[in-house]
Amino acid sequence: MTIGILAEYRWNSLERRVALVPESVRRLAERGFRIVIERGAGELASLDDALYQQAGALIVPDAVSVLSEAEILCTLTFPVPLAEQLRQGQVLITLVQQWKHADVVENVVGRGVRILALERIPRTSRAQAMDVLSSMATVAGYRAAIVAAERLPRFFPMLVSAAGTIPPAECLVIGAGVAGLQAIATARRLGAQVSAYDVRPAAQEQIASLGGRPIRIEIGTVETETAAGYARQLADEQLQRQRDGLSPYVARADVVITTAAVPGKRAPLLVSTAMLEAMKPGAIIVDLAAESGGNTEQTQPGKEVVLSNGVTILAPLLLPAQLPHHASMMFSRNLTNLLLLLATSDGVRFHLEDDILRAMAIERAEELSR
Ligand code: NAI
Repeated sequence: MTIGILAEYRWNSLERRVALVPESVRRLAERGFRIVIERGAGELASLDDALYQQAGALIVPDAVSVLSEAEILCTLTFPVPLAEQLRQGQVLITLVQQWKHADVVENVVGRGVRILALERIPRTSRAQAMDVLSSMATVAGYRAAIVAAERLPRFFPMLVSAAGTIPPAECLVIGAGVAGLQAIATARRLGAQVSAYDVRPAAQEQIASLGGRPIRIEIGTVETETAAGYARQLADEQLQRQRDGLSPYVARADVVITTAAVPGKRAPLLVSTAMLEAMKPGAIIVDLAAESGGNTEQTQPGKEVVLSNGVTILAPLLLPAQLPHHASMMFSRNLTNLLLLLATSDGVRFHLEDDILRAMAIERAEELSR
């Protein structure tokens, strides 16, 4: 079975990662896979072609050569510019993000390409080692704190200096899932005081265990969590109560990192324009929910907004690509664990008996709406 890997940065200007790193190539080659990789694919992640060759990969000159050889094509993001060249029977393993390019995905599925959507990996213990969403959220949460520290015109830690004592920065994290918890941990390591809020009650303990101060907001008796552990979408009334409860914390914060998301829905609007206007000059917001609409009323995905009171809202897209070496390594390890599910005792083959693969498979148009 031949796996194809592309130099995705050649068609995605924000991309710097690569889907497989050499250590994974070696692991897969030992299990009978053949790996074909586009020249220079790991270049922006500090991974030379020579390392891939030593690990057993075949380097080919361009994407067309990869596509013509690959039985399984693995990419970090959906390869929209190459979609026309995918062919019947080929398997595409990727983060589909169907809402971004629904027509293209439908067309590809309609032509008999089998897609395994990485965002559909179940969040079970067995699937944890394949969970690229968690890995990329970890990178994004870390980067969000670093970006905020870099842009803030103040120190993060408390300093006792020749110029007197400088108090620590106050950081507020809204949404304490995988990305939010990593942002809390990183901001704490940099010395900030951190408060955090999540609608799921279970998050309180996790926030405290990382040295953050959990914020409690009374929103009435509503079910806030699905059986799968995700947050539910709230009604307008509850969202208003959340905004009211968060207002004094937002006004006090030097840094606000927002990560609140509800799968398949617009991100909840938790910071209104009035709340932004009450913030301190120089305060920085990093909105990680930008791709699904943003958590603040003034977020512009991919752009930097500076308000008249001197507050800056950053809404970076594809943040994990800003840490390309380790983001690639984490993605690659997860992907490899998944690919090894395809290696059975009688060789490598595509089979859907496994519940993880079955959950991920999109083979017919009607499965797109699952
Ligand atoms: P996510 O990216 O979907 O959302 C981020 C956070 O926003 C979540 O913690 C969510 O509760 C919060 N949120 C949503 N609406 C909100 C609102 N109105 N106000 C405040 N916060 C709001 O979530 P993520 O990071 O993917 O994690 C979701 C859950 O899945 C967590 O419980 C996490 O621990 C769990 N998980 C389980 C795994 C496993 O068992 N293998 C792996 C990864 C995560």
